[in-house]
Amino acid sequence: MKETADAINRIPPDEVGPFAVLIKAQKLEREGRKILHFEIGQPDYQCPNHISEAGIQAIRDGHTKYVQTAGIPDFKEAIQDEIEKTRGFRPTSDQIVVFPGGNTAIFYILAATLNPGDEVIYPNPSFPTYGLSAHYLNAKHVMLPVKEENGFRLDPGDILDRITDKTKLIIINSPQNPTGAVTNKKEIQKIAEIAEEKNIFLFTDEIYSKMLYDETHYSASVQDKCQERTILIDGMAKAYAMTGWRLGYAVAPPNVAKKMCELIVTSFSCVPAFIQKAGIAALKGDQSFIKTNMDLYRKRRDVIVSGLNSIPGFHCTVPQGAFYAFPSITGTGKTSIELADLLLNEAGVACLPGPAFGPYGEGFLRFSYATTIDTIKEAIEAIKKVIS
Ligand SMILES: Cc1ncc(COP(=O)(O)O)c(C=O)c1O
Repeated sequence: MKETADAINRIPPDEVGPFAVLIKAQKLEREGRKILHFEIGQPDYQCPNHISEAGIQAIRDGHTKYVQTAGIPDFKEAIQDEIEKTRGFRPTSDQIVVFPGGNTAIFYILAATLNPGDEVIYPNPSFPTYGLSAHYLNAKHVMLPVKEENGFRLDPGDILDRITDKTKLIIINSPQNPTGAVTNKKEIQKIAEIAEEKNIFLFTDEIYSKMLYDETHYSASVQDKCQERTILIDGMAKAYAMTGWRLGYAVAPPNVAKKMCELIVTSFSCVPAFIQKAGIAALKGDQSFIKTNMDLYRKRRDVIVSGLNSIPGFHCTVPQGAFYAFPSITGTGKTSIELADLLLNEAGVACLPGPAFGPYGEGFLRFSYATTIDTIKEAIEAIKKVIS
């Protein structure tokens, strides 16, 4: 067999990530085992009907042809309105690029900004695509540990300490996956100032921007309105329960947006227009269900956090956003992978080992609590039986 390319070989096989664990869990289910699912980060309910109907209607209306690479004008306009409403500035149309999900946008942003050998500072643990894309592009990883004692928030001082003359990009994410941490306004402002002073690209992943429990989301993009160096992503997957629709967007300096479009032309061409039409319905339609769902997540959060804290050897801080609990499990004496395997095989609870999000995830597990309170309670009891 002939060798595959070096760049692709730099992406290691996924053995402990959400899809790998889901496959293991489904195998056990096929063997007749009952599994309680906490591995995948997606809402457990359907997106509101008016969104699906808009997508179906758009197919009926014939919005099924190739369309503009950067996105159809009416969806881009809805995004301009959305950014103006939520971030306080109105980007120009040439700053917006529509992607099939935030995940895809991450790769394109890194590809548009990083040369081999450039340094990229990004949180650890964090959403795996940052590190894997950087590996693919042969950029140099500079890990920014997010610490439990700091509530997993990003520390501007730690970022400053890691900047060298090779630093090209800083990646931040708040609310954060896998910890649920929300970095506060003062800290985000400071990070944006550092990026400005040092003239470094700042990529702010705001995919959970509508999913905060107490604080209001603050965006690093406010500083330069994505004109100079800040690149923002947001999307429909989480708050609108549209994970399978694959729809997200980036707001970027016009030169970066243009380069990303050139790469899109040579890859996926465009996001289907009927999907973007559904996106318009999401952004422009009734938003009240988001608050209703966040109230529901808050109840689930409170149950899972107190449940996890009642398990010997576990310690869980209270997440301020998203739907992830990230307990420390060092008190159990097991590694994260050992414990996640034990919980799956013995307790029938599928969760993720922290190292699925990078080496600093060792000593933690991630539970996505986008599931019912009954399932959460059942899982806590099942874990307790296996642990004690
Ligand atoms: C931090 C973060 N960014 C981006 C994404 C990608 O979201 P999607 O591609 O579904 O829009 C995810 C998904 O879990 C995420 O957690």
